[in-house]
Amino acid sequence: MEYQLCPSILSADFNRLGEQIQALEGQGLKWLHIDVMDGDFVPSISFGMPVIKSIRRESNMFFDVHLMVTEPERYVQDFVECGADSITVHAEACEDLERTVERIRDAGVQAGIALKPATPLMEISYLLQQIDMLLIMTVQPGFGGQEYIEDSTEKIRQACQLLKDEGAEIPIQVDGGINDQTLPLVLEAGASRIVAGSYLFQGDLSENIAKARKIMGRYTE
Ligand code: DX5
Ligand code: ZN
Repeated sequence: MEYQLCPSILSADFNRLGEQIQALEGQGLKWLHIDVMDGDFVPSISFGMPVIKSIRRESNMFFDVHLMVTEPERYVQDFVECGADSITVHAEACEDLERTVERIRDAGVQAGIALKPATPLMEISYLLQQIDMLLIMTVQPGFGGQEYIEDSTEKIRQACQLLKDEGAEIPIQVDGGINDQTLPLVLEAGASRIVAGSYLFQGDLSENIAKARKIMGRYTE
């Protein structure tokens, strides 16, 4: 299993965004988690295509775009053109989830499905063979800096089991409330793509990355 720490730029200092992405890249991180919010699927609005397009020019990281957007199918092509390597859509946001996933894959990038904390795994079990990643939200989508929802640990375990039962060898990503205390829980439960926003960007970025890596090392070696 390949483990990735995926810094979420939602918690970055946008006045120094390019510099901070360079620092992440300099630390050898490969994935960049990019949260797009539309003010409809979630209450808040973050940023969109122009920002992604600009940072794409300066970065070779894998752009993991998390769309918290109603009917994301409408924007698949736009996000591919501005540089996404993977597009994750919310099951709850799509009128036709299967068609949306197909559209993402047909556009030549990886497809992920995200589930809000209250959405049961069974709702998407029929699609597990057709996606590249399953994102289990460990907070309510919409804001950085929230507290990890305890029940998520069991959901990650169940997701792991479901993937095994279905013979789908895809990674589980977790997003929200990851810190020193919750990182071991999600790794233990079987997550391998770890999104972290405030945990990495509050305080010293390189020290925080080193801390997270040390914890991850205990589970991944
Ligand atoms: C929340 C976003 C997250 C957010 C995580 O809706 O999807 O990616 O940036 O922030 P932290 O790690 O601070 O909970
Ligand atoms: Zn996210």
